[in-house]
Amino acid sequence: MFETHHQGVIRRQQAAPAPQYSIRMECRKRQDYGVHLTAEILSPEHSILPALLAGRKALAVTTSTVYKLYGRQLEQLIRHCGLDMRVHVLEGGEINKTLASVERVCREALDAKMDRKSVLVGIGGGVCTDVVAMAASAIRRGIEHMRIPTTLIGLVDAGIGLKGGVNLGSKKNYFGCFNPPSQALLDPLFLSTLPESCIRFGMAEILKMALVTDHELFRLCEGHQQALIESRFSDPWEIGREIIWRSTRSMLEELQKNPYEDQTYQRLVDMGHCFSPALEAATGYRMHHGEAVAIDMALTVTLAESLGMMEPQERDRFVAVLRQAGLPIHAPELTPALCQAALDEAEQHRGGAVHFPIPVEIGRCLFIEDRAKLPNRLIESALRRLAGEAREMHLNLNTH
Ligand SMILES: NC(=O)c1ccc[n+]([C@@H]2O[C@H](COP(=O)([O-])OP(=O)(O)OC[C@H]3O[C@@H](n4cnc5c(N)ncnc54)[C@H](O)[C@@H]3O)[C@@H](O)[C@H]2O)c1
Ligand SMILES: [Zn+2]
Repeated sequence: MFETHHQGVIRRQQAAPAPQYSIRMECRKRQDYGVHLTAEILSPEHSILPALLAGRKALAVTTSTVYKLYGRQLEQLIRHCGLDMRVHVLEGGEINKTLASVERVCREALDAKMDRKSVLVGIGGGVCTDVVAMAASAIRRGIEHMRIPTTLIGLVDAGIGLKGGVNLGSKKNYFGCFNPPSQALLDPLFLSTLPESCIRFGMAEILKMALVTDHELFRLCEGHQQALIESRFSDPWEIGREIIWRSTRSMLEELQKNPYEDQTYQRLVDMGHCFSPALEAATGYRMHHGEAVAIDMALTVTLAESLGMMEPQERDRFVAVLRQAGLPIHAPELTPALCQAALDEAEQHRGGAVHFPIPVEIGRCLFIEDRAKLPNRLIESALRRLAGEAREMHLNLNTH
């Protein structure tokens, strides 16, 4: 017992007893997983899925649009290969990325009497694989899951990483987990039925990887993206696969350095993701994530040029490729005040510095740490310039 004096008041405090026995527990889990670019994942003759499931009980989870398009093939695969697999169809869409969907999957797993060796298989876009990753982390404190992405964003981003998440009201991914899949199986054939807009949104994420690490990937997109968008990545087929695989590999190399996001705040994959969350929210989520990422990147390369970090021709070349992909470079909702608020938030959440990825050329990036290097007047003039370029583009389109 000892006494402390505080403004004349004497407080008696109990000294915390020193622990008599202590043990330090090591509880890091070593995990790795395979990401495979494959083909005909639903074909009974060629699919690698039956071998990977190896006779275990499985629950395939998909969404209604994907089931309408691919349900018959999936059921045929199950029958033909004698898989012990039920199929559960969720309602898709961001609005259904909720705990209620996670619960539905868990109930179905319970009904199917799945045990700790059983596997969930998410077949769908990022919404589906995010829900499945969450459910897999919860069922019996964690069962295996596989991801079979069916959108371009899924193939190069949501389907290959470690994260899962669902929304709490308008707070995106408020519930989330780091839960790597046991396998990610990528089959670009799914893209044949995807709406063109979804291909363009995926291109924004691919161009992000090109901008931060891979000039050759950028060159391939510049040369072939128009044909690939029109043909849903079927023509030229080999180039389409190469673009997907290069982008996937670059993404995984970046994730590998910091898989649980606890090693560093300097993340190249944050390119295009500094201003875009605020922009998406400001449009009431009417603007798609891919479009917001494109606008964010257009602003970032313009800032890089103004700061003398990137050559003007290099900046123009990148903006031209965004436009060629049919992606926007400006939106009136992205005001200087919104940008400042986004930088405030980045500073708050990233240990007091902004860690803003900034390109010096296409394929190479540095980081700006000090917020003062991005003053308001710089952001204002960059936004004005992009608004002018977007207007010009609109006029040109209307007069031709
Ligand atoms: N976990 C991660 O690391 C990560 C990374 C990026 C994005 N995400 C999440 O992914 C989601 C966005 O993913 P998305 O763009 O794939 O959206 P999505 O899952 O909503 O799919 C887009 C639309 O395409 C339909 N669809 C899916 N595959 C199809 C196909 N082959 N043919 C025709 N239609 C098809 C879907 O039904 C849906 O209507 C967001 O919720 C985002 O937060 C997660
Ligand atoms: Zn993104």
